[in-house]
Amino acid sequence: MSAAGKPLLLLIDTDPGVDDALAILMASAHAEVVGLTIAAGNVGLVHTVGNALKLVEVLAVPIPVHAGCASPLVLPAAGAAFVHGADGFGDIGYPPAKAAASGEHAANAIVRLARERPGELTLVALAPLTNLALALRLDPELPDRIARLVVMGGAVSGRGNFERVPTEFNIGFDPEAAHVVFEAWPQFDLVDWEACVRHALAFERFDAMLAAGDARARFYASIAGTARRFNQANGRPGMIVADALAMAVALQPQIVTRAEQRHVAVELGGALTRGATVVDWDRRHGRPTNANIVLDVDQARFEALVAGALGAVAAR
Ligand code: BDR
Ligand code: CA
Repeated sequence: MSAAGKPLLLLIDTDPGVDDALAILMASAHAEVVGLTIAAGNVGLVHTVGNALKLVEVLAVPIPVHAGCASPLVLPAAGAAFVHGADGFGDIGYPPAKAAASGEHAANAIVRLARERPGELTLVALAPLTNLALALRLDPELPDRIARLVVMGGAVSGRGNFERVPTEFNIGFDPEAAHVVFEAWPQFDLVDWEACVRHALAFERFDAMLAAGDARARFYASIAGTARRFNQANGRPGMIVADALAMAVALQPQIVTRAEQRHVAVELGGALTRGATVVDWDRRHGRPTNANIVLDVDQARFEALVAGALGAVAAR
């Protein structure tokens, strides 16, 4: 629900992806989703579109799926199949969805939906920002028509999870797109990788939620195996579900317990640092704040949103 008591309307730009899938399940359980716009990222566009369509079929909800950009704006980039599986959904060989994507490009869909519902949509960006950058070039007034933008991206203390060390995947995959968005959008919520690590789901709690859930949990458990094994094998503190954390912040801004407002820019050069998110922590550049950097959330409330999306009761 929005503050005005109306259902929250979400437009989700995404590259499913196992954590994208959990975020979309959460969105469908707790809000109204007006569309999924799809980018390449975790895996190629054919798979991310197919995965989005499959998820919509599993949910049995009429959410339009709009295919978008198949590559970053400027330079090619490698995906994250080593985390999510070659098809992005754990390579379980699911039967493809019967429905097809709309014929409308994701960037056009973002522009149109924002014009149709000015001031009503929360845009949740869970992928490289290619589609959104393109939409901004098509309609520079887009930010005026979107109620709120929540971005999963960045590594504000420089640890990251990408081939270039201080860089997070969504930003590192398409730094130019992130630059376009960060420069043009006056104010957005940024849920960075390091917050997502702090708010990983302990493996036993994650498993318990999957075991206690309904058909959504069973489907999710089937696609999440590869990513779960990757998280465990790489010494992570639990299942890192980055996009799900961003979705929780979109759904319930009140769950944020610690945040800082600063200017964040994207490094476009840098042999070692291209795609890094540079935070002006000490306000030395004098540029206006563009990001509300989410640092911590209420973990119990986050897990309750996840559990609700899987048809499980919160395990705490
Ligand atoms: C982000 O990159 C992708 O692999 C995930 O889906 C998430 O959007 C985390 O860095
Ligand atoms: Ca994603």
